[in-house]
Amino acid sequence: MPTVLILGASRGIGLEFARQYADAGDRVIATARNAEGLKKVEALGAKALKLDVADPASVSGLAWQLDGEKIDVAVYVAGVYNTDGATQPPTQQEFDRLMHTNVLGAMQAIPQVAPLVEAAGGRFVFITSDMGHIAGAGSSFGWLYRVSKAALNMAVKAACTDYPAATFAAMSPGWVKTDMGGAGAPLTAQQSVASLRKTIAALSKRQSGAFLNHDGKPFAGW
Ligand SMILES: NC(=O)c1ccc[n+]([C@@H]2O[C@H](COP(=O)([O-])OP(=O)(O)OC[C@H]3O[C@@H](n4cnc5c(N)ncnc54)[C@H](OP(=O)(O)O)[C@@H]3O)[C@@H](O)[C@H]2O)c1
Repeated sequence: MPTVLILGASRGIGLEFARQYADAGDRVIATARNAEGLKKVEALGAKALKLDVADPASVSGLAWQLDGEKIDVAVYVAGVYNTDGATQPPTQQEFDRLMHTNVLGAMQAIPQVAPLVEAAGGRFVFITSDMGHIAGAGSSFGWLYRVSKAALNMAVKAACTDYPAATFAAMSPGWVKTDMGGAGAPLTAQQSVASLRKTIAALSKRQSGAFLNHDGKPFAGW
């Protein structure tokens, strides 16, 4: 039975990933940072692990929590958002909140989780955003968020070379109806995750490090 790890599964896209992989019959390990989130994950039949990706001490305990696992699919989903543009400087607090959650957490998770993914010859996917596509930036809306997701894309692309037995990818989920995406988004979490899972399943080794849309289309340039 394949083992799937979802990092950041308390709600939205992460919870939907855990639900769909569990429904498909996979063994799911999923993380959340509080009791409410852990309960939602457990209700799906998944093994729940407590993890705050913005707390370096919490993330540094991931390796022992996953000791002995071989992971076929790992997905780093946790993320936070900020819509501010470039007419004001970001506060240090907001800079740290976004960069710790969206970038540092992923960079701390990679050396701990990637060897377990390599052990299964599996896939390690990071949920990024089209707002992190440098070549496509048409405004500064979500300036700090854009910077954090572009940094995440680089973290993924650069790290994949150290883990050749795993296939890495950064993937945009599209604009999705969640607490972050809002009610006006065109995609439901169910639709986005179904499309992402299809693309994850079809990933080939030679694509490792790619920045892809949920439907598998690569972003042109970075
Ligand atoms: N929705 C969209 O339209 C959209 C578009 C592009 C990219 N994305 C990306 O997709 C991912 C999921 O977004 P979403 O739409 O599902 O957002 P969401 O509904 O706001 O959920 C965010 C998830 O991240 C978790 N998280 C945040 N900070 C965390 C921390 N310090 N430690 C552990 N977990 C943490 C949240 O956990 P708590 O419940 O504990 O807060 C929650 O599970 C994010 O990376 C986001 O940037 C979303």
